[in-house]
Amino acid sequence: MGELDVVTGAFSYTGRHIAEALLARGRRVRTLTRRPPDPSHPLADRVEVVPLAFDDSLAESLRGADTLYNTYWVRFERGDSTFDRAVENTTTLSRAAKLTGIRRIVHISVANPDEHSPFPYFRGKAQTEEALRESGLSYAIVRPTLVFGPEDILVNNIAWGLRHVPLFLLAGDGRYEVQPVSVRDTARICVEASAGEDDVVLDAAGPERWAFEDFVRLIARAVGSRAWIKHAPSTIALGAGRIAGLALHDVVLTRDELDALAAGLLVSHEPPLGRDRFDTWVTENARLLGRRYTSELARNFAT
Ligand SMILES: NC(=O)c1ccc[n+]([C@@H]2O[C@H](COP(=O)([O-])OP(=O)(O)OC[C@H]3O[C@@H](n4cnc5c(N)ncnc54)[C@H](OP(=O)(O)O)[C@@H]3O)[C@@H](O)[C@H]2O)c1
Repeated sequence: MGELDVVTGAFSYTGRHIAEALLARGRRVRTLTRRPPDPSHPLADRVEVVPLAFDDSLAESLRGADTLYNTYWVRFERGDSTFDRAVENTTTLSRAAKLTGIRRIVHISVANPDEHSPFPYFRGKAQTEEALRESGLSYAIVRPTLVFGPEDILVNNIAWGLRHVPLFLLAGDGRYEVQPVSVRDTARICVEASAGEDDVVLDAAGPERWAFEDFVRLIARAVGSRAWIKHAPSTIALGAGRIAGLALHDVVLTRDELDALAAGLLVSHEPPLGRDRFDTWVTENARLLGRRYTSELARNFAT
């Protein structure tokens, strides 16, 4: 029996790939999740499942584990799922990990967090990093840029729009860049970062940078899209996204997400640790990419 690690969200996106990477290395995995057990999930029989609750039960949920991999966060605010609440919950989790004797925490943050950021997502991530530093735990902070892979939402839904809607609007000049990293590389970087005791902060970014327009056109070519790809002022592009959201019962893109993208926050300023190329992946996965729309609200706000 290998050593035990705890991963938040093993039935979700990045957490699933971290859990798989750990199991492949012979470790045992306990996941903390809001999701009721789903016997059809490929990891259902392979991980121990404990409800994620940010209360006194955390000590018991973390007991006996070596490393905690924390992916927990919210993509945008809705109802009582606020960024302030997410910061508070993450701080509670870090403190409980310290009290329970977890050896190390690998905390998934985001590229370019900033406590003075105008964007609450990036500001909140900076606050969680600070709380981690204050917790006294040995830590690795991993900061992904834009994560692509199976079960991803953003790239899949861009592909869905390019397949199903005749017009795709690019906000502004479309020259702002993204530096996508595969979920497989992200998981590997997280698992490798669990080794040692030194506190480290690493970006998880892939080997290529793309102007957003070229990124969209690459996806369009891969899926055989015939949509018109046109530039529009960001308010128009956002308005179109809102209308799409109403039709799809989802939040397609928030103003903050668009502005953060246009501000170039989804790139790294370090030598890339990711190896998988996005252009290769998108070509290899084009057949299935964007066939079905994936709703953020249905996946993450309905549980
Ligand atoms: N995806 C990206 O492109 C990207 C880019 C940069 C940074 N990141 C960071 O990487 C980490 C993992 O991201 P991901 O996209 O892989 O996320 P995810 O798997 O969809 O969710 C990660 C975790 O957060 C929980 N969660 C998600 N939405 C929630 C909500 N509304 N209320 C309460 N809990 C919620 C999930 O709970 P359940 O287990 O119950 O599902 C899961 O444990 C996050 O910290 C994110 O900020 C992601």
